[in-house]
Amino acid sequence: QIEKVIGREIIDSRGNPTVEVDVTLVGGYFGRAACPSGASTGTHEAIERRDGDSRFLGKGVRKVVEAINTDIRKALTGMDGTDQAAVDNSLISIDGTENKGRIGANALLPVSMAVARAAAQALQVPLYEHLSERNYLLPVPYMNILNGGAHANWQGADFQEYMIAPVGAPDFPEAVRWGCEVYHSLKSILKKQDLSTGVGDEGGFAPKVPSNRAPLDFITEAIEAAGYKPGSDIALALDPASSEFFIDGTYELKSEGKKLSSEEMAGYYQDLTAAYPVISIEDGLAEDDWDGWIAMTKAIGKKVQLVGDDLFVTNTKRISRGISEKAANAVLIKLNQIGTITETIAAVTMARNAGWNSMISHRSGETVDSFIADLSVSLGTGQIKTGAPCRGERVEKYNQLIRIHEELGSKATYAGKRR
Ligand code: PGA
Ligand code: ZN
Repeated sequence: QIEKVIGREIIDSRGNPTVEVDVTLVGGYFGRAACPSGASTGTHEAIERRDGDSRFLGKGVRKVVEAINTDIRKALTGMDGTDQAAVDNSLISIDGTENKGRIGANALLPVSMAVARAAAQALQVPLYEHLSERNYLLPVPYMNILNGGAHANWQGADFQEYMIAPVGAPDFPEAVRWGCEVYHSLKSILKKQDLSTGVGDEGGFAPKVPSNRAPLDFITEAIEAAGYKPGSDIALALDPASSEFFIDGTYELKSEGKKLSSEEMAGYYQDLTAAYPVISIEDGLAEDDWDGWIAMTKAIGKKVQLVGDDLFVTNTKRISRGISEKAANAVLIKLNQIGTITETIAAVTMARNAGWNSMISHRSGETVDSFIADLSVSLGTGQIKTGAPCRGERVEKYNQLIRIHEELGSKATYAGKRR
């Protein structure tokens, strides 16, 4: 039984306020969770409510905290904390809107997560087991080692994320080691080129590069210099986050002085996948460019994983449209895009039933909360992206997965190449 729900305003990795929640069940079982926050947010995401007053440049979350400490506390007190679906349904009905705009997804999500943690403690199981469908799979870490776009203040590449995926590693801790070694080797290569090794929001380097292809050359070189084979050991992945540079109907690649149509943009990716071992492209096209997505999936979907982030916003309504129109072949999963654990699990289940992949994701604004690490193992998605092996809020998720690997031993396998 839920006894106490306490919300508070804390700060995230960008120095913006966010919401932390403590939940206590009768018997003293305790769960704490914090809400992440995006920068390149999709238009169709659930609403993140902010105070809009003079504090924190308008980004305060006191009203959200107030709603947690009144309405939500009242509704949840006395409920069975181990019945996550009932708790989440209650949260959804307290808000009562389609987009969670009344109370805010940033109120609902940390409550949903904290309840799950407290319940796991009450049931005396690890969080991943409580959330589980029991097909434990340690995910391939998609490490974002070079940041561009909005996450690097538009100083370098137009594309937001350049990721490495150690698909050939024998297990999760080795995958992390390989990723770290490549990260260090990339740092030396950038230094040699007199490029900045300062980092962006997700811990990747954020150099001023001459084109969107240049980072792929640097990263391929870094993989080789670290002693690995690009492709079979360590593959590449991109999140251009193209909704951010889709302006008046064209894709504007400022770093290259180009304006491309959807078709030309898809052709651009086709060329990249021919030249580099890129196995996954997220948000290659913009969030409402459905026709472009359908054509791109037809053209390169057999060869490359095409992941919808802003396109689907972890929302089963949009995912089901995507599935029936064959507009992609994978879904990015961000809990705060939809607002509760139960709805997040529904999104993963829908994707899986269609034969699609899912990739669990952090946000660019994070805390050290490592909930998504456990969730990725529970749901067996086989893929997680949570930044570079740098900055505490990114590293904590990878470290939690190392602990889970140790705990599960032979009960869990590393996803590796079996996407
Ligand atoms: P965001 O970026 O958290 O700033 O939205 C992450 C992503 O686009 O995948
Ligand atoms: Zn994205």
